[in-house]
Amino acid sequence: MKALVTGCAGFIGSHLSESLIENDIEVIGIDCFTEYYDRKLKERNISSILSSKKFTFVEADIMDASLGQYLKDVKYIFHQAGQPGVRGSWGKEFDIYVKNNILVTQRILEIVKDFEIKKFIYASSSSVYGNIDELPVKESQLTKPFSPYGVTKLAAEQLCNLYFENHGIPTVALRYFTVYGPRQRPEMSMSKFIKDMISGNCITIYGDGKQIRDFTYIDDIVKANLLAMESPVEGEVFNVGSSRPIKLIEIIKILEKLVGKKANIEFMHKQDGDVRETYADINKIESLYGYKASIDIEKGLYNQLDYFKSTNENLKSH
Ligand SMILES: NC(=O)c1ccc[n+]([C@@H]2O[C@H](COP(=O)([O-])OP(=O)(O)OC[C@H]3O[C@@H](n4cnc5c(N)ncnc54)[C@H](O)[C@@H]3O)[C@@H](O)[C@H]2O)c1
Repeated sequence: MKALVTGCAGFIGSHLSESLIENDIEVIGIDCFTEYYDRKLKERNISSILSSKKFTFVEADIMDASLGQYLKDVKYIFHQAGQPGVRGSWGKEFDIYVKNNILVTQRILEIVKDFEIKKFIYASSSSVYGNIDELPVKESQLTKPFSPYGVTKLAAEQLCNLYFENHGIPTVALRYFTVYGPRQRPEMSMSKFIKDMISGNCITIYGDGKQIRDFTYIDDIVKANLLAMESPVEGEVFNVGSSRPIKLIEIIKILEKLVGKKANIEFMHKQDGDVRETYADINKIESLYGYKASIDIEKGLYNQLDYFKSTNENLKSH
């Protein structure tokens, strides 16, 4: 069995690739190491699987890679490549979001329509919803993105759906709610909180800290992808969250306990594009896939903190 994972060197793509290999699935991973964050971190993400006989790494930009040659015998495509982050998606940078989120997705779908695949799983985002009054949010909610990033993720999700409707590509879109855990991207809130806390720096919170996020542990995201792969359900979108929303300020309190230090917090103006609350209704994925969110936030944060400490030690000793 063979799968293609785009964005395989990223936070989510690397965990997913690892898990597929553990499940005895051959993985072709493609990544071009975009400049969004340090290439070294991405190289480290795939360092444990690079030597696996079941992993083939292709360093290429999806926009100009000859994808067809990698698709032979591929049954599953996990499209994780993308330009993440809400705050950076304004202004001039929007071009990069259009390219890496919309154009790239269209290009893959256009090529894939000539191949027989079993499932095309797209990494969508809770950002497609925008600010919602009625929470927890269901998949049937009208989508009204609140950031340029959200617009590009929604456009790509719609492309998946129209290639399903017109060409029968068996697509599924998983709307991830803020993902955390080991290897989380360095600009994401928990990564920054952990780094600042350990190094004794002031922690910056944009807004009053009372904004609510439905944090989803990386293992649950991987699990949702595997369930989507195995299930016959196609042409659908699913929320993937923990459905246990928590205030940002509570995250700091948990970290204070775990690190054994009081945090120094600086509150700054809320950033454009940041929504007030995210909170997933996960009934659909629970009932159609048998998904269950596993780890609680204390344990998940402990794992992320542990990973940060061990990799920082590694970096120091090199
Ligand atoms: N992390 C989250 O909380 C979250 C939440 C919702 C949705 N998502 C989506 O999940 C996916 C993975 O997110 P992540 O947090 O792992 O981000 P990431 O930046 O760590 O990983 C994305 C990877 O895609 C690669 N990539 C981007 N454009 C490419 C291109 N044109 N060709 C080849 N490779 C390319 C990047 O180099 C990177 O390694 C993204 O599509 C993101 O929008 C993430």
